[in-house]
Amino acid sequence: MSEGWIAWDRILYGGDYNPDQWPEEVWREDARLMRLARWNTATVPVFSWARLEPEEGRFDFGWLDRVVETLESEGIGLCLATSTASQPAWVDAKYPDVLITDPDGVRRRHGNRHSFCPNSANYRRLSVALASRLADRYGRRPSLRLWHVNNEYGTVCFCENCAAAFRRWLQRRYGSLEELNRRWYTAFWGHAYSDWRQIEPPYRHGEGSIQALRIDYHRFQSESLLRCFVAERDAIRRRSPGVPITTNLMGTFFNLDYHRWAKELDVVSWDNYPWPEAKPEDVAFYHALHRGMKDGQPFLLMEQSPSQQNWQPYNKLKAPGRLRLQSFQAVAQGADSVMYFQWRRGRGGCEKLHGAVVEHGGSEANRVFREVAEIGAELESLGTETIGGRTPARVAVVFSWESWWAMRYSSGPSRDLDYPAVVRSFYAALHRLGVAADVVGPDAPLERYDVILLPLLAMVPRELGERLEARVREGATLVATPFTGLVDETDLVHPEGAPGPLSEALGVFVEETDAMLPREENAVRFADGDRAEARLLCDRVRLRGAEPIGFYERGFYSGEPAATRNLCSKGVGYYLATYLGDEGLRRFLKRVCAERGIASPLEGGAEPPEGVEVAQRVQPDGAVLTYLLNHSDEERTVRLPAAGTDLLTLQPTGPEVRLAPRAVRIVRS
Ligand code: GLA
Ligand code: ZN
Repeated sequence: MSEGWIAWDRILYGGDYNPDQWPEEVWREDARLMRLARWNTATVPVFSWARLEPEEGRFDFGWLDRVVETLESEGIGLCLATSTASQPAWVDAKYPDVLITDPDGVRRRHGNRHSFCPNSANYRRLSVALASRLADRYGRRPSLRLWHVNNEYGTVCFCENCAAAFRRWLQRRYGSLEELNRRWYTAFWGHAYSDWRQIEPPYRHGEGSIQALRIDYHRFQSESLLRCFVAERDAIRRRSPGVPITTNLMGTFFNLDYHRWAKELDVVSWDNYPWPEAKPEDVAFYHALHRGMKDGQPFLLMEQSPSQQNWQPYNKLKAPGRLRLQSFQAVAQGADSVMYFQWRRGRGGCEKLHGAVVEHGGSEANRVFREVAEIGAELESLGTETIGGRTPARVAVVFSWESWWAMRYSSGPSRDLDYPAVVRSFYAALHRLGVAADVVGPDAPLERYDVILLPLLAMVPRELGERLEARVREGATLVATPFTGLVDETDLVHPEGAPGPLSEALGVFVEETDAMLPREENAVRFADGDRAEARLLCDRVRLRGAEPIGFYERGFYSGEPAATRNLCSKGVGYYLATYLGDEGLRRFLKRVCAERGIASPLEGGAEPPEGVEVAQRVQPDGAVLTYLLNHSDEERTVRLPAAGTDLLTLQPTGPEVRLAPRAVRIVRS
């Protein structure tokens, strides 16, 4: 079931519900209020292992039966969670190997959550047993819409079990120690291994100078946790055929290679908690990242806070209308659900101040509840009209966890390199142009994209380089930056230097890379008269067929190429030898896109006015939905190429559309 999108019969609307924190009298009231809020899906039981299995092998499902029946009596469906993210005290007391070990080699004490070792056989056995029991009991219930395995997987364990499993993993990967020593470049500082047993995880007080070891440890741990997911998933799938299975992801989360994970999920889902100053384009980037994980398929928004969080330094309320914008932004960018953490604010525990639909002592009269209910009513009125739409993106921005790990563990040339922020800035520039882009992994099928951006994509193994070059030869445009194509899969610099296997496509060779000081200024003067800031890094490049199109203004390399353009068969390879700053990047990408006839869907390909987000989804029936979101506090006007119907008001709309502050329009044409 993991191929193909899921034709939901409605937009899933609901979220995390923790009834076991409340006496039973409250459950009926909860279900009544959920119905009023137009919830159709409740996620239960996310953290209830101790209540479901109070001692090994003794299960208590009576209370959950009553919860499920209460929800069903109000027509609320189930997103069934497996409760395995937080193991009970008896598990840790009985099986100490379940507890995770930190990077100092210290085994954690019982407590918190996400404190299990992914390679503990006891954890695997017990978690799969619980998931199996849940699936036996509820797996064929008609109200069951979705499985939610565990919760926000993401830890890294350094225990002896993991160390032993890592050695076996390395033996399979490299075959011989000789090969491992070569690929890991252990001649450096004389770190060659002469016995597999000498290899240790990269403890904080241990080996930190071999980047390939650290990168491989991430690969191994990401895979280990993924095997925990797969074990639960397979047990569920046998008992609950046809019900999609997911786990909630977290955006650019460092420890897990989500592109590998997404292959195992029936549908990608993620938790959106934007920081207070995040701009709409920042949030859109994360949606595009999750959309891109499964080849552009719709994803689920599994969690967002209906009001504030509790774990930011300052937890702002969402002003009226913001939650609605944020919810419709998710739908505009490819979500088939809008879901929350959580239903009711808890009375105790470290999340008692986290926002929820129902306040402490609250009722349906509260502001947040009313906003949630209004959004629910609007989503309900949309029926299946928005479900399954795909973003017609012709531009891809490549994001790679392995490149991120390689960048993070490399020493030099600048401490200001923030990989996700750089990639995000490329996406954001396109977003401000109104140009649709997917954020995809390096293994994604690239055929459908005409422009492929590779910001800071350090790790380009030969095979990826060949695929990218082939795309250029077929007619695509590539954009590369400093660091693109520098290293192979074990972080060895390509023998020919950067951009390694992309040299032919880009027609340049990088001779040196300068790091800019925080207040240092330089600029790029383009041949067409444009001028942009130069930031972060400045490569000195040698031309190998490319034509220079921009030149440094200052420094001993003033007048040398800062941007180049290379014709390669039917395609073009651009090399930006420095970072242009947000404005310069926007203008540069506008020219690159225009060359391929790519622009916003507004009339004449116009850039949307400041604060207005434009996004499209093409529905399975061919209808094109244009989402217009005014994130600003002022009225804005845009022009569409044609008139259509606003699905939220059912009124004829356009071609000129006036957008009140915080307005949302979904125009069907
Ligand atoms: C995460 C978790 C939830 C909750 C929220 C709070 O997304 O999945 O259980 O802790 O954060 O923001
Ligand atoms: Zn471990």
